[in-house]
Amino acid sequence: MRIWMFSGVIGAIALAAGAALSQGATPDTTATRVKFPADFAKSFRLYDKVEKADRKIVRYLYVNPEALAKVSADAPFPNGTVLVMEDHEVALDTAGKPLVDAAGKLQPTGRVKGIAVMAKELMWGETNPFPPEKDNGDWEYASFKADGSPNPIKLDACYACHLPQKGLDFTFTGKKIHEASKK
Ligand code: HEC
Repeated sequence: MRIWMFSGVIGAIALAAGAALSQGATPDTTATRVKFPADFAKSFRLYDKVEKADRKIVRYLYVNPEALAKVSADAPFPNGTVLVMEDHEVALDTAGKPLVDAAGKLQPTGRVKGIAVMAKELMWGETNPFPPEKDNGDWEYASFKADGSPNPIKLDACYACHLPQKGLDFTFTGKKIHEASKK
């Protein structure tokens, strides 16, 4: 936390946010301010699907419409962006191998393995418990179970793997979101 950068009211907000974050975090979980976007499957834009045959899943990628309306390829994603990655199990043959259709596509089922969310808000980077070199700008991450309940895990790997994607505002599929914003 870089509280020394702030003074007065902003410092107090940063302190309060820091205190809220450290509450309830056990050594094996990472605190997060990212909430489960309950209605994402209905109200968010499905902007891409990524097949992972080796992991027997298809990932459904969603962005919230409020952010999509403000997206520009020339700027980082706006504050308030919420990105959801929902992993669907695929249909398997009797030998446990993923089935494909005539076009060679995997067959996602309605069974969801897990839901990963990343969201950004103003000043989150300044008020999270990470040292600055681990910050992903103002993004924070969260992991949820299929029913939307929190999956209490360490989130360091999310930050570490997305960190080199800084050029695309820490996303891997940011270009797909830019494309979706033009449709
Ligand atoms: C080992 C690298 C790695 C780790 C660890 C990782 N991700 Fe990702 N993430 C990716 C890749 C690669 C994609 C693009 C989709 C794909 O190819 O699977 C992605 C995509 C995403 C997306 C869709 C937006 C985007 O960046 O394109 C979200 C949301 C996301 N990850 C959240 C998380 C969360 C939450 C965690 C931790 C629980 C996490 N990720 C951990 C590599 C990683």
